[in-house]
Amino acid sequence: MAIIDSSIAKAKEVLDKGGLIGLPTETVYGLAGNALDPKAAAHIFEVKARPSFDPLIVHSDSLERLSPYVKDIPEAAQKLADAFWPGSLTMVLPRSEKIHDLITSGLDTVAVRVPKHQLALNLLSQLDFPVAAPSANPFGYISPTSAQHVQDGLGEKIDYILDGGDCFVGVESTIVGFPNGIPTIYRKGGIPVEEIEKVIGKVEVNAQSSSQPQAPGMLHRHYAPNAQLLLGDIKKMIEEYKGKDFVTLSLSSSFDNVPEENQFTLSKEGDLNEAARNLFKTLRLIDKKNPSFILGEWMPEEGLGRAMNDRIKRAAALG
Ligand code: TXA
Ligand code: MG
Repeated sequence: MAIIDSSIAKAKEVLDKGGLIGLPTETVYGLAGNALDPKAAAHIFEVKARPSFDPLIVHSDSLERLSPYVKDIPEAAQKLADAFWPGSLTMVLPRSEKIHDLITSGLDTVAVRVPKHQLALNLLSQLDFPVAAPSANPFGYISPTSAQHVQDGLGEKIDYILDGGDCFVGVESTIVGFPNGIPTIYRKGGIPVEEIEKVIGKVEVNAQSSSQPQAPGMLHRHYAPNAQLLLGDIKKMIEEYKGKDFVTLSLSSSFDNVPEENQFTLSKEGDLNEAARNLFKTLRLIDKKNPSFILGEWMPEEGLGRAMNDRIKRAAALG
């Protein structure tokens, strides 16, 4: 079992020795290891049971300290870094030779990010290397937003979890690449598309599911709870599923004819930031109850609602 504590010194000691830790960030917890050590990188894939074609994000505490690992920083990337780092944005840039093929799955680009979490930034500033960190969940399962979630999913397989409390954003970072110089969103996430467009103008969004993911958790079934998640008009589905073993998952609505303990709402006030913060935690709570069906609904397509819709689409295996 991993030790859960908030000691940066202990986390550094584990990483310095080539070990893996649970790393708090504002989006989700990461499973972190020395990004310059191919053994640590291989261990990350093994612990997560992650396919080797799915590359990792490299994290440090500043663009400056990430720059040795990228070849070129396009002007738009510089602007985005100035606007959003530290923060929930990952950028895919041409990589330098210092980054091993294992990290990038052989691609000629590398994904880099500066997380916005004081404990993580403190730790990263004390390390002599950047860390590679995918979300700290077994591959395909719901991402972790607390130290306890990491313990539940991977606790047996890692030595230490740096406890930084509950993640403040709750969905993974937005991933932006620059293929042929065109800013392109590969994964919707913690920085809304609208915010990015305010800084660099119109961007392409290419976050489609594919069997050969260009990026992120772009696989058809991902972030998936055990129960079957159905999306639509919850009121209508309650009628259709009468007598069946279901719970509801809504943004803010409650339903008269469903027992209170079977109703899950993400934000009573309908606040999408609060809802995003609660999404993965709530899916995990529902899984503990183990219903056959989750009757859920789409979020408004704005702000963090877009990233949430992407995650619930995959959780429902709708690709
Ligand atoms: O918020 C986050 O980004 C969290 C925290 C821990 O930082 N990390 C995270 O990592 O979500 P992960 O591994 O679950 O998702 C990262 C995604 C991968 O699915 C991968 O496909 C994509 O980033 N990625 C990494 N390198 C890439 C590259 N060179 N080109 C395109 N996509 C890349
Ligand atoms: Mg992930």
